[in-house]
Amino acid sequence: METETVTIDRYGVMGYPVAQSRSPVIHRLFALQTDQHLQYELLQITPENLERAVRQFQHTGGKGLNVTVPHKQTVAKLCDHVSERARLAGAVNTLSFKDGEIHGDNTDGIGLLRDLVVNLGVNLDSANILILGAGGATRGIVGPLLEMEPASIRIANRTLGRAQAIANEFGQMGPVSICRLDEVPTTEVYDLIINATSAGVKGESPPYPAAAISANTFCYDLSYGIKPTPFSVWAREHGAEKSVMGWGMLVEQAAESFSIWRGVMPDTAPVLKQMAIKA
Ligand code: ATR
Repeated sequence: METETVTIDRYGVMGYPVAQSRSPVIHRLFALQTDQHLQYELLQITPENLERAVRQFQHTGGKGLNVTVPHKQTVAKLCDHVSERARLAGAVNTLSFKDGEIHGDNTDGIGLLRDLVVNLGVNLDSANILILGAGGATRGIVGPLLEMEPASIRIANRTLGRAQAIANEFGQMGPVSICRLDEVPTTEVYDLIINATSAGVKGESPPYPAAAISANTFCYDLSYGIKPTPFSVWAREHGAEKSVMGWGMLVEQAAESFSIWRGVMPDTAPVLKQMAIKA
């Protein structure tokens, strides 16, 4: 009698630290929903061990990896091929192992856009957007946001030089201006404010620009937590009626990675619901 063998493809997320990652839960829910056989591991890897760990995962038959803080920039150097959106972002969050080669992609930008536009109904066309922070997170979202043809994007950062570097890189795609975080003009009110600083995660409270908010401003924090993040608390306190944490972006970027790996796009709505996530 013949026995049917079901192969379980291996995926995972590498980060440091990574214990708090929700990616294994999200990918397991996607796999159940789409009837895919896979396992998804949590892999705590220090920066010194990243290259060895990626190659070992590849050589032992692993199919794909998500890569998170602090590895998104360095892992790009290990890729044989990098997608255009990953190249623009200067960061990779999704690796696929095919025919002995490593393909790098970045699903963060599309994840944010799907959450904003599809899930939350934010109109980006002609919007005035303020992004707080000019680190890797900002670099990953500026290009996709500019493709939606907003009226303007201002990047406000504590260190002006980092904002300048991003503006220089993306300025030819659309109208990008910069200023220091504590010098956002008090005459400007925004349709959308995105917090892309890591201040809240570190328990710090930077001088967020209160004058930039009106009741109609949509405030979106790329960070998320069980409790409201410091930025979302601040946004509500300063009159924003809509203040949302980045749970939806997390689930949407995961869905895009899943579809790159498995060729099937999961339905994100029940997963967001199942995780009992309140934005
Ligand atoms: P990420 O990849 O998450 O974007 P990063 O590259 O370390 O991380 O960038 C963190 C961002 O948060 C930067 O814009 C940083 O400002 P600086 O460029 O001036 O360092 C910002 N940030 C972190 N802590 C902050 C704080 N306490 N006040 C203001 N900005 C802060």
